[in-house]
Amino acid sequence: MRIEINIDRLGAEFAELASFSDAAPPAVTRIVFSDVDLQARAWLKERCRSAGLHIREDAVGNTFASWKSDSADAPVGTGSHIDAIPNSGRYDGTVGVLGALEAIRALKQSGFVPKRTIELVLFTSEEPTRFGIGCLGSRLLSGALDHQKASRLSDQQGESLDQVRHTAGFEGPLSSVPLSTGHYAGFIELHIEQGPLLEQANVQAGLVTNIAAPASMRIELEGEGGHAGAVLMPDRRDALAGAAELILAVESLALDTGAIDTVATAGICDVFPGAVNSIPSRVSLGLDIRDTDLSRRDAVVERITEAAKAISSKRSLRFKIEILNADAPAQCDPGILNVLRRSCKDENVTCMDMVSRAYHDSLFMSRITPTAMLFIPCRAGVSHRPDEFASLPDIANGVRVLARALAQLAS
Ligand code: HGY
Ligand code: MN
Ligand code: MN
Repeated sequence: MRIEINIDRLGAEFAELASFSDAAPPAVTRIVFSDVDLQARAWLKERCRSAGLHIREDAVGNTFASWKSDSADAPVGTGSHIDAIPNSGRYDGTVGVLGALEAIRALKQSGFVPKRTIELVLFTSEEPTRFGIGCLGSRLLSGALDHQKASRLSDQQGESLDQVRHTAGFEGPLSSVPLSTGHYAGFIELHIEQGPLLEQANVQAGLVTNIAAPASMRIELEGEGGHAGAVLMPDRRDALAGAAELILAVESLALDTGAIDTVATAGICDVFPGAVNSIPSRVSLGLDIRDTDLSRRDAVVERITEAAKAISSKRSLRFKIEILNADAPAQCDPGILNVLRRSCKDENVTCMDMVSRAYHDSLFMSRITPTAMLFIPCRAGVSHRPDEFASLPDIANGVRVLARALAQLAS
């Protein structure tokens, strides 16, 4: 079977998808259920329809584009996300969606006839930006997030997930979203590495054996506030000074594990009232803690909680801690990894085993079906930045390997 990639069409599709953005190029901002997200979804569904795929959407906007086969056997799934965090790049997630579409078109072009349906999945809200939790669509699909808890999620404007999804045109109860274990015969996600290892090793593809365990927490510190000129230093209860001490503690607690796989980030720091001459009375911190080792990750979360308590009592601050998610790591399926390894060989694409430090929808799909991920290099490992870049030849390598692996699983 010869897999031919239409590289010009694929390149044009990445450029067109990137144009659905609330940021000036080269940055991409595409927050879930924003107008640009809905426009991008409509555009993508059109591309899938013209490729002869059948489209279905669930109550939270997960979108399924199927190349139907005659058999009733469990389909083979592939896909990723197209939502993008503020001021980010055009390849995170989209490589796994546009790449899967191109893989399906290439298989059709080659005359391959699948014995199992091959289904491209566009997951809703892989990024945590709007509702504070990542992989919202795949968590609901896999049953990892209870639909009643999901219904209570709201965005920064106070709009609930139900209100937002209904306005976006996604009706039906969230209880209808979960898929049963075994719904898919297997699932593969193509994604940029979001790290520098493939490029440094000069290897063309990464076979992801494990996906690191992500956790996120919100910590609110509350002090006194007051006039920046009139309140003397000994009389202050400055919430931002406390938050600053806590942010440094987060950094040193991650370093103190001595393991390179432990990472912790304070990515959000909302200061109230945010006036230069007013002592901050309230700060909300958004923390992201990850490790390939679950117990090490949990120990860091525990120590951050202790640090928040100690700093608050030293500075007479009130504090509130909310753990938004603390997920187990995922092992990818050895059988599917072997199919990918063989497909790399058949396509003369060099590959190496590796761990994913980023989380992905595959973290949750692995709970309901044998799952593996295929990485392609991204320049200098940069991601979640406007200068995120993956070359078309590298993308085409990934697409050819994905096409061959899907064909193998669907035979
Ligand atoms: O944060 C992550 O790991 C993913 O890119 N959302
Ligand atoms: Mn991302
Ligand atoms: Mn991603």
